[in-house]
Amino acid sequence: MHVLYVYAHPEPRSFNGAIRDTAMTTLVRAGHEVKVSNLYVMKFKAVLDPHDFRIRYNSDRFDPAAEQVHGFRTGSLAPDISEEIEKVSWADLIIFQFPIWWSHMPAILKGWIDRVFVQGFAFDPESGNVYERGLLRGKKAMIVATFGSSEEKDSHGGTDRTLTDHISSINHSVFEFTGMTALPPFIVFSTDTMNHEEGARQIDRYRRFLESL
Ligand SMILES: Cc1cc2nc3c(=O)[nH]c(=O)nc-3n(C[C@H](O)[C@H](O)[C@H](O)COP(=O)(O)O)c2cc1C
Repeated sequence: MHVLYVYAHPEPRSFNGAIRDTAMTTLVRAGHEVKVSNLYVMKFKAVLDPHDFRIRYNSDRFDPAAEQVHGFRTGSLAPDISEEIEKVSWADLIIFQFPIWWSHMPAILKGWIDRVFVQGFAFDPESGNVYERGLLRGKKAMIVATFGSSEEKDSHGGTDRTLTDHISSINHSVFEFTGMTALPPFIVFSTDTMNHEEGARQIDRYRRFLESL
């Protein structure tokens, strides 16, 4: 399988760094071809703005969706977006790995989605190309996320109840909307209070999870 691994954590020696390393060796050992978008290392630009479009559709008034459609059709998107679009086109499976920050993905990853899943490439509502007719149909996508808080807090209606709701929302509104099949997420809770042994157990659980893909 062609796997694109989109990774958003600024510190290689973090827990996220450790599980990313495990993913690389496990996926390659299982015979998959892997490409990585390591967003902090790439210093990936996180904001969709007029600089994303080398030839403007309308230079008087900035309409992001119209510019995306035009930019993709005319091949005039910024080079960093085009490179990511090529990787997405190549991939059978896209894995997004990130820590939960303020109940959501880090801004750099949200920016990747804003800028790379452009209208006309990933979906096209005007031609009905959304959900089962989404333009990324046939591909799979999966979230790997780490939470500082505990699973109990999340599942028993505590203040963090919305944490896994956010994961479901990405699965539906991003992956399924663009036609991809959302695979079950891999989630690690309580990372902020986890000891070394528990960390090693979670890494081993992730390795087995990836082997079962
Ligand atoms: C800016 C920021 C916001 C955070 N917000 C949340 C949050 O909303 N919910 C949560 O469970 N943990 C939150 N955390 C904790 C991180 O999810 C946790 O530290 C991370 O998953 C641990 O992985 P790491 O050691 O690889 O960074 C936050 C951490 C930071 C730095």
